[in-house]
Amino acid sequence: MKGVILAGGRATRLRPLTWVTNKHLLPIYNKPMIYYPLESMQRANIQDVLITSSAEHLPHFINLLKAGKDFQLKLSYAIQEDAGGGIAQAISLAEDFAAGQKILVCLGDNIFTHNLTSAVRDFEKQLKGAKVFTKRMPTENKQYGVVELNNHGKVLSIEEKPENPKSDLAQTGIYMYDIQVYDFIRKLKPSGRNELEVTDLNNCYVKQGTMTCEIMEGWWADAGTSFDELLRANNLVAELIKSGKH
Ligand code: DAU
Repeated sequence: MKGVILAGGRATRLRPLTWVTNKHLLPIYNKPMIYYPLESMQRANIQDVLITSSAEHLPHFINLLKAGKDFQLKLSYAIQEDAGGGIAQAISLAEDFAAGQKILVCLGDNIFTHNLTSAVRDFEKQLKGAKVFTKRMPTENKQYGVVELNNHGKVLSIEEKPENPKSDLAQTGIYMYDIQVYDFIRKLKPSGRNELEVTDLNNCYVKQGTMTCEIMEGWWADAGTSFDELLRANNLVAELIKSGKH
């Protein structure tokens, strides 16, 4: 299985911090944000990782991360020409890189302690389908996709930032896909905010009955969504390091 880390987007919610730099290069305690998804990939025994970002910012990532030796990873890079074209559009850039293998996708601003190793191992054996990782969050928080399960844990629906959430399971930015993903993306239409949405993509698998869901342990921070989340991510990482568990 190969890894894909998305580091594009417009990061308007973090201006002025992001006027002249990419959000995923901002510090989270003692490291740039992008280090955390890279380390999560490495922990999950993924060896080949593609990083996507805008033409303007991709050289900054190449400068910082180079070929990936410091992470024991082999890094590749792809330009997302319309850096705000949507998460699903960015995922489509991985088609040639993946070369028929399944992919683990991490949004570059998602920082978490959950270990993905066993999920990667199981998904590699799985014939087809996709997996979304979720986290229980207060339902008053309306900034996430929301996943609805039935009593047997089957995914019934995923809604993007609903007004009336059907559950407290937030869709995080960690996904696994089989090779159908590129055909599904080709059929997607841009949403109201003119993006190819990951929620629409994931619902293609829900409709097919092949979407599974794993609830993550530990903490999860969506560091790029607000100044408060950015601060929370910094504090969580600082606590982890000071506790000696990292
Ligand atoms: O983080 C979890 C949430 O991510 C999910 O709960 C939502 O269902 C999902 O739509 C997404 O929502 P956000 O509003 O947080 O997405 P955002 O636009 O902030 O982008 C998230 C990451 O994806 C960020 O690291 C930048 C990257 N990205 C985003 C877009 C729109 C790209 O690389 N390219 C893009 O075109």
